Amino acid sequence: MERPFPTVAVVGLGTMGAGIAVAVARSGRRVIGIEAGPDAAARALARIEEATAHAVQRERFTAEERTALLALIEVGDRLDAAAAADLVIEEVPEQLELKREVFAELDRICPPETVLATGTTALSVTRIAAATARPERVLGLHFFNPVHSMKLVEVVRTVLTAPQTAAQAAEFARELGKEPVAAGDRAGFVVNGLLFAYLNQAAAMYESKYATREDIDAAMRLGCGLPMGPLALLDLIGVDTARTVLEAMYEQSRDRLHAPAPILGQLVAAGLLGRKSGRGFYTYEAPGSSKVVAEAAAGTAPAVAGREVRSIGVCGSGTMATGIAEVFAKAGYRVLLAARSQDKADRAKAQLARSLERSVAKGRLSEAQREAALALVAPTGSYAELAEVDLVVEAVAEDLAVKRELFATLDKICKPGAVLATTTSSLPVISCATATSRPQDVIGMHFFNPAPAMKLVEVVSTVLTSADVTATVLGLCTAVRKHAVECGDRAGFIVNALLFPYLNDAVRMLQEHYATVDDIDTAMKLGCGYPMGPFELLDVVGLDVSLTIEKVLHQEFREPGLAAAPLLEHLVAAGCLGRKTGRGFRDHARR
Ligand SMILES: NC(=O)c1ccc[n+]([C@@H]2O[C@H](COP(=O)([O-])OP(=O)(O)OC[C@H]3O[C@@H](n4cnc5c(N)ncnc54)[C@H](O)[C@@H]3O)[C@@H](O)[C@H]2O)c1
Repeated sequence: MERPFPTVAVVGLGTMGAGIAVAVARSGRRVIGIEAGPDAAARALARIEEATAHAVQRERFTAEERTALLALIEVGDRLDAAAAADLVIEEVPEQLELKREVFAELDRICPPETVLATGTTALSVTRIAAATARPERVLGLHFFNPVHSMKLVEVVRTVLTAPQTAAQAAEFARELGKEPVAAGDRAGFVVNGLLFAYLNQAAAMYESKYATREDIDAAMRLGCGLPMGPLALLDLIGVDTARTVLEAMYEQSRDRLHAPAPILGQLVAAGLLGRKSGRGFYTYEAPGSSKVVAEAAAGTAPAVAGREVRSIGVCGSGTMATGIAEVFAKAGYRVLLAARSQDKADRAKAQLARSLERSVAKGRLSEAQREAALALVAPTGSYAELAEVDLVVEAVAEDLAVKRELFATLDKICKPGAVLATTTSSLPVISCATATSRPQDVIGMHFFNPAPAMKLVEVVSTVLTSADVTATVLGLCTAVRKHAVECGDRAGFIVNALLFPYLNDAVRMLQEHYATVDDIDTAMKLGCGYPMGPFELLDVVGLDVSLTIEKVLHQEFREPGLAAAPLLEHLVAAGCLGRKTGRGFRDHARR
């Protein structure tokens, strides 16, 4: 394909337009920048000069390259100048009527072969294209902010966009050093379509006082490796912008999960738009600042002292039990590793020893520390030995009958006052508690896999858990250097309740043939800085495990949008469970 679009006009040189103008000039193309008036044009040019000077300071390019680049950019205030362009990229404010007017004018000004692209985030590209007589040459080019560092571009085709036009636009994006992803014309496209539903659920979770804003954000950063928590991200994006995008999504999908959480409207009405106004979910030092300031804590509950914990019992012999035992032993606690037989317990300890050995090999642990930790772990095939421990964490099979039976046993064996914790990820903690005669001592301690590496623990108190038991477990988390977040006993706790609906939305997007597995994964990694795309993650977690969690969430909240996507059910029925079976959304066996 010959080099597409040698001359490009950019209409609107604000945050996005200015960034795009520089990126286009960097690719050696001539840029015609157009602003709304002479003053705005002068300001835009100054912005471009400043941004490129900054880039030279940051050594993103040299002073000579900057001079050459600036020579390629002209900035004016007459839309007529767009007549000389092969491609026009519109980046004016997000208002449908304004964009339609600009497109109608461009259609009149530009030769019929000129391609017109809109930078809209949430408006209908089709409706913008309808303002022209060339809808086959109109598409969306959705760049991400800041343009110089974000590699993703969503290339949005309407039903009328010619395939050739989309292919040229994708090639053009590649020549700018970007990764194009194909999307259809639907509110939010790929990235925002998946991101904003999740942000909305996080806002609703905060609004329902299920967990604090700090705990919701920490849970998603530490539990999923996301670069930012959802509420901090809403503040960065702008609460008003988020609400507008969600409104547009709801308008099309009529999915209640897209209906903006009421708190978003309240914040917008109060002028609390996030970082830009100095306050949103958090309060910042000043408008535009990223520094969060503490607010006066309103009526914090008086601190309750926890119980003393010196020795710990861990029930189970699998991945989680072994990892949890390692966490406690490394922090200096005596650990009784109790399994159904001595043999299983011994093998679990051997597994733990191998994990410690790997830490030594990686230089994270000294030989002496390894020996000390190993000496603290006593494997046993008899639960009776748990009589003396101060706290038990069970990590046996994720089966309510099995767990209830174990809790009934622990109730008979453990000394009065011992804390009994479950690390279940999808069963109600209260159902474990009611299997005992001491539900006030039962609590959830949801560790993440691999337990030694993952910093997060969700501390789940039921309606019957006593305050000193919660305090004990929070204190223990601090002592073993885990980050505890507190939440109530409802399906999915914080992390899974926010993560799995997003994964399910991705499956639905695939099932509807809106985008491909690769495009969706690429879009989420490059557009949001996620460590893995949703399909990579589903294949790692296991499709069967994911389906179970989605069913539990749907069963709890009865929200139609939470029903597991049929495609996921089909794959599970077909035995395609992800990496562990060699095939899930991707075929791993052939790699
Ligand atoms: N900011 C983001 O993070 C982001 C990310 C992706 C896409 N977008 C989308 O990109 C588009 C531009 O957003 P932005 O954040 O750059 O906005 P902005 O407000 O920073 O810039 C808009 C610019 O357009 C100019 N303008 C207004 N009317 C004009 C006209 N008739 N002719 C020429 N110029 C005109 C304004 O003077 C301003 O400089 C919007 O559709 C937005 O939704 C924004």
